[in-house]
This record gives sequence, C-alpha cells and structure tokens, in this order.
Amino acid sequence: MQTPIPLFPPNASSVATEMDLLYLFIVAVCGFFTILVTAMVVYFAIKYKRRHPDDVGEDIHGSLALELTWTIIPFILSLVMFVWGASLFYRLAKPPADAMDIFVVGKQWMWKVQHPEGVREINELHVPAGRNVRITLGSEDVLHDYSIPAFRVKMDAVPGKWTTMWFKATVPGVYHIFCAEYCGTKHSGMIGQVTVMTPQDYEIWLSGGRSSGSAVENGERLFAELACITCHKTDSSGRGPTLIGIFGSKVPLADGREVTADENYLRESIMDSQAKVVKGYQPIMPAFQGRVSEEHLLQLVAYIKTLKKK
Ligand code: CUA
Repeated sequence: MQTPIPLFPPNASSVATEMDLLYLFIVAVCGFFTILVTAMVVYFAIKYKRRHPDDVGEDIHGSLALELTWTIIPFILSLVMFVWGASLFYRLAKPPADAMDIFVVGKQWMWKVQHPEGVREINELHVPAGRNVRITLGSEDVLHDYSIPAFRVKMDAVPGKWTTMWFKATVPGVYHIFCAEYCGTKHSGMIGQVTVMTPQDYEIWLSGGRSSGSAVENGERLFAELACITCHKTDSSGRGPTLIGIFGSKVPLADGREVTADENYLRESIMDSQAKVVKGYQPIMPAFQGRVSEEHLLQLVAYIKTLKKK
C-alpha cells in the first residue's frame, strides 16, 4: 500500500501509520513555529527600525499573560511529543509474547536469515502478513543496522550481543531491507528485500524451502558435537550446572550477584564462560569465542531454551 504522502516509504506494518502521524505532527509543530518566529523577526525589524539617529527605545514592562502563553503552549506541545513518542517506543521495544522468532545475522556484507523451522535465506526475508514477528539480531563482525523502512523499524546489529526488534506486517508485497549503519566498503550493497506473504502462502513457502534441520535440532546436534553435554547433564551430577529449566530463571553467581538467564546471558556464557561463573562451580569451562559462529550460537540457545523441567 502506498502512503498518501509522496516520498514516504510504503506503509506496510501495524505501526507505520502512527509513526507517520507522530512524525508529521512534530514536523508540523516545528514548521509552524519556525515560520511564525521568522516572520515576526522580519516584521518587527521593519516596524521598529530606527528612523532617526536620536531614536530611543520605549521602556517596556513584562506581561504576565504573554509570558504564560509562550511557556504553557510549547510545554504542552512538547509533552505531547514526549508521551506519544515514548509510548510508541516502548511498544516497539517490547516484542509481544505470541511473536514468532526469526534469527538474522549481519556480516560484511550480507544478511543471513534463519527461520526456526530450518529454512535459511540470504538478503531476503519471507514473513507472513498479520503475525507478530520477533527478529533476534546478531553480528558476525562489525556494527550493522537492520532497517525495513516500509515497516518503520530498524535495529542495530551489535557484535558481541543480541538485539531484538519486532513488527507485524500488514500488506503482502515486496519491500526494501537496508543496512543503516556504515560498515565498510560494500555497506551500500548490503541490501535485500522482505517478502510479505499471506499466511497460507507462507506455509507453502516454508515447506518448499530447503531445510537442514530446525534451529533446535541443529542446536541439539551442536550441543553434543561441542561436548557441552559432557559437563552439562540433565541432573546436577555434571561438572557444570544443569541447563534444564535455565532459560528465564534467576542464576546465583560466584561473586554474589544474581542474574536472569536471558538470551544474552546464555550467549555470553558460551562465548566468554568466565564472565559470569555460577555459584558452586569451578571456572573450568573453555570459552567458545571464535569457535562458534553467531548462527550456531543462535541454534545452541534455541535448543537450550527448550530444555524445560519435566
Ligand atoms: Cu552492514 Cu552497513
């Protein structure tokens, strides 16, 4: 769907209209006052210009009404911008609980996409319309930024941690993906396209894609291949803590702190295992920095998240 405003990207997500209205509101307020102030400066400069070398300005005393007017009106207008902007920001920062997951990894100079079912794509992204989609974003090398203007969303891909963003596409079609953070020679070529499909078409597309096992299956395989399984057992008899039920739980650390085992905690504990050692365990786990790619990490964590207490 094209927006009624020329030069705007297409409007294809649940937040696009509101984002545009907020943007237009801010531009309109700023534009109005810029014109008003400029016009008054010119008008008064002409009206009160010095007409005689002996001209002396008139003594003026403050006007409470005027002071209140030009304090209260801008105050209310800026509060509207703030509250509206903050509310939109917080809604965009918190993915809905029912969102489906897709993993995206940026690397010089491409976007590698992995659907939980196992289908992979490069510089393309297929999503169903009308469903909340949560993107977990990582970077293999430097800062990138995953930007989909038609959805009015963008998020930095930061080396060393994962970030998330979410959207609900509304209109089937094909839209641009850009890298919006300068990342080297071929930054401008780090582009792609997102294809929004009807849910039925998306199911057909998924089942037709070449899949090398789901993210969880691959994670389970890696868990054995990397020998994680020899220390992290299903009970507490291993040299490392059991990972059953770890995701989302509170973990007591050797230094007395307590952390919540979210995705970034799991990621860090694999890559830099000494950073947060669990209370009661020796810091004997090797660091996997440089040995596991971001995509494998995403698979490992997808698998660890499925380890639930029976
Ligand atoms: Cu990746 Cu710019």
